[in-house]
Amino acid sequence: MDIQAFIATRRDGGRHPSADLNTFAKGAADGSIPDYQLAAWLMAAYLKPLNEQETAWLTEAMADSGERLDLSGLPKPWVDKHSTGGVGDKTSIVLLPLLASCGLTVVKMSGRGLGITGGTVDKLGSIPGFRLDLSPEEMKAQAKRIGIALTGQTPDLAPADKVLYALRDVTSTVSSVPLIVSSILSKKLAGGAETIVLDVKCGAGAFMRDLEAAQTLAAALKRTAELCGLNIRIAITDMDQPLGSAVGNALEVREALEVLQGKPSRFASLCIRLAGLTLAAAGLAPDRDAGERVAAEAIASGKAKAKAAEWFAAQGATVDVFAHPTALPSAKIKVDVLAPSVSGWVSGINAEAVGHAVVHLGGGRLKKSDDVEPSVGLELHVEVGSPVQPGDLLMTIHARSLDEAKSAELSLKDAFTFSSSKVDYRDPIIAVL
Ligand code: URA
Repeated sequence: MDIQAFIATRRDGGRHPSADLNTFAKGAADGSIPDYQLAAWLMAAYLKPLNEQETAWLTEAMADSGERLDLSGLPKPWVDKHSTGGVGDKTSIVLLPLLASCGLTVVKMSGRGLGITGGTVDKLGSIPGFRLDLSPEEMKAQAKRIGIALTGQTPDLAPADKVLYALRDVTSTVSSVPLIVSSILSKKLAGGAETIVLDVKCGAGAFMRDLEAAQTLAAALKRTAELCGLNIRIAITDMDQPLGSAVGNALEVREALEVLQGKPSRFASLCIRLAGLTLAAAGLAPDRDAGERVAAEAIASGKAKAKAAEWFAAQGATVDVFAHPTALPSAKIKVDVLAPSVSGWVSGINAEAVGHAVVHLGGGRLKKSDDVEPSVGLELHVEVGSPVQPGDLLMTIHARSLDEAKSAELSLKDAFTFSSSKVDYRDPIIAVL
């Protein structure tokens, strides 16, 4: 392929045949197309977006740029779940064992945190011994044995996305819908699952900050997934306030363990509803309501917790964190923050500000090469709709030092807003496609 002609086609808003997109993805993965030509094409694609068919072809081409997990031999249905990322989003740690305990085979590749949005890999990394580097063969063998396997991003699956994503990150071309769609779905195709549930986060703590943007992305994901032959369901969910009561790696694992042990909350109800959606999509329940009942029962009976314990042990956990939650990293400094002199209801908690505060406490990365500190973060004692009186506990800051705790407190000075009239609790699910 003449790469200059390929770039010119994109620059001029022309159409790419599937064969050219294949050559491009292979060239990105094997390094035969230099970064400057990849970057030039990415900017052209940002300005002259791919159409639906081209997006589907690029998705397939990126999935074919490496190994595709062949799940044959594993019990069906095979499912995967993905979130576009949010603050306090530890849904996968609950949903994966919950689904596996209901008879689904769940195989998933997860990422590290990106910006203010946390990553499942960083969270599970706070469980002592938990391995996040399973090879494709180990993934398959474990999923066959216990119905669940999760690994961090591997160079074997969709390597073209790894190269293109890193270039998009530094060329201001991340926020292009066809490029986001092909990036997400190529990894899902390569992972081998047939049923995919996507959680598109919407609000101040997410990439898609308003409903219109989330709906546009969700519709494009659905259309492209269908063109690629995937059975997909998409939920658009609220990310205007942090999800759940914990933000920070080990704190979020702790909250997920509580949900798996039956503690009710808004976050728990999101997990059960996403599980109901997945069970119905995979054909294990006649509809979402029936799926939710199956999922709720799996938690109440202890099946989901037992599956999670089996999963953690299979991936190398050296401690049973259900029996010994204190084995999870814990911060030296804890600072309580109280409500100011207001009586009324919490009307908002700025998820973006909370996300930044946790990154600065050390729970996320400011540079690509930074290590995350698993113990730090925020415990929120209220949510939107909670009644408050002066002096009530709003949050506890978990920090490495008093200085860091104090600067987090300062940065969150205006993160909570209050109303003197009643504020309703907000439904975590905004729409389902
Ligand atoms: N997540 C991805 O995997 N890719 C994107 O492009 C954006 C979010």
